[in-house]
Amino acid sequence: MMVGADRSELSSRYQRFAVREASGRSPLYEHLAMGVAMDETVLSLIAGMPTSKQQPNLLFAAYRHVLGVPSNYAEFRKGLLDRSDAVRSVMLERSTQTNEPGRCAVLLPILASLPQPLALLEVGASAGLCLFPDRYGYDYPSRSLRPAEHTKPYPVFPCAAGETIEVPKALPQIVWRAGLDLNPLDAADPDEAAWLETLVWPEQIERRNRLRLALDIVAAEEPKLVQGDLLGPEFEALCRQAPQDATLVVFHTAVLAYVTADEDRRTFADRASTLSDIWICNEAPGVMPHLGFTAADAPTQGAFLLSVNGQPTAWTDPHGSSIVSA
Ligand SMILES: C[S@@+](CC[C@H](N)C(=O)[O-])C[C@H]1O[C@@H](n2cnc3c(N)ncnc32)[C@H](O)[C@@H]1O
Repeated sequence: MMVGADRSELSSRYQRFAVREASGRSPLYEHLAMGVAMDETVLSLIAGMPTSKQQPNLLFAAYRHVLGVPSNYAEFRKGLLDRSDAVRSVMLERSTQTNEPGRCAVLLPILASLPQPLALLEVGASAGLCLFPDRYGYDYPSRSLRPAEHTKPYPVFPCAAGETIEVPKALPQIVWRAGLDLNPLDAADPDEAAWLETLVWPEQIERRNRLRLALDIVAAEEPKLVQGDLLGPEFEALCRQAPQDATLVVFHTAVLAYVTADEDRRTFADRASTLSDIWICNEAPGVMPHLGFTAADAPTQGAFLLSVNGQPTAWTDPHGSSIVSA
């Protein structure tokens, strides 16, 4: 097991999180992360965790899971030190599997433009919420789309689309769907659903409400989610199960950053493009360096690069609230 980076590196990581990720999105997480960055005692506590468990997002979500939302750093610090064993065990047991169905809004322009019907295979699916783009509503600047059939209330995702983005006229027709994940979550399990809700940052109430609606829809669908590594044999086995008379779309969003070796990401990319009809990659730009873009090229801080069959096509908001051509 890799044991923690040193405290000054950890302090910089929490500062970077505050400035680059939380600023403008979550005043509370920005405040907590800046507090942690300057707190030797708390940094020592985190440094004792395995490196993969030291993320700010995981610490703050685990804290909230045990103690609720703190109102300031002093309350957070006291709660964390008093209940460090409980927070630590949540951090060791769970991970940041944030499932954001709003990302369907930036996949939709591609999905709707393909020969229908579609077979969808999501790699790194978490609870599989992004496997149901046909079950949600969307508000683009020039058009709104709503699901044809629905028995439950559905979330509506607002998405600002640049003028050159072809906004879909209709939702895609999906005849088969499956997900692969190291640790598939069950939307119907109240404990796992609650963890996914806790991963949404505290101020993002609308986002959490939409997540709740998507979880209810997917819980009733019981999607096929297979446990396995994206580099393992399960990926090819799932591709082979897709119906032959549908366009097989392999996609992933916010997953490859968890695959640390560049070589492994390239191996996966080669396999995905060989085994699928269409391969959609919606990831932070740096994780696929061969696409020729870096984070510095992004039009907004933290934007994802969306590529289709290895061709960069668009910059997308990491939670799916905007898309512009690349
Ligand atoms: C941040 S979540 C994103 C979930 C979903 N794609 C979305 O956009 O809402 C990343 C997911 O990738 C999964 N994951 C990470 N590394 C993986 C690997 N090597 N093989 C399969 N799944 C992986 C994690 O378990 C987690 O559920």
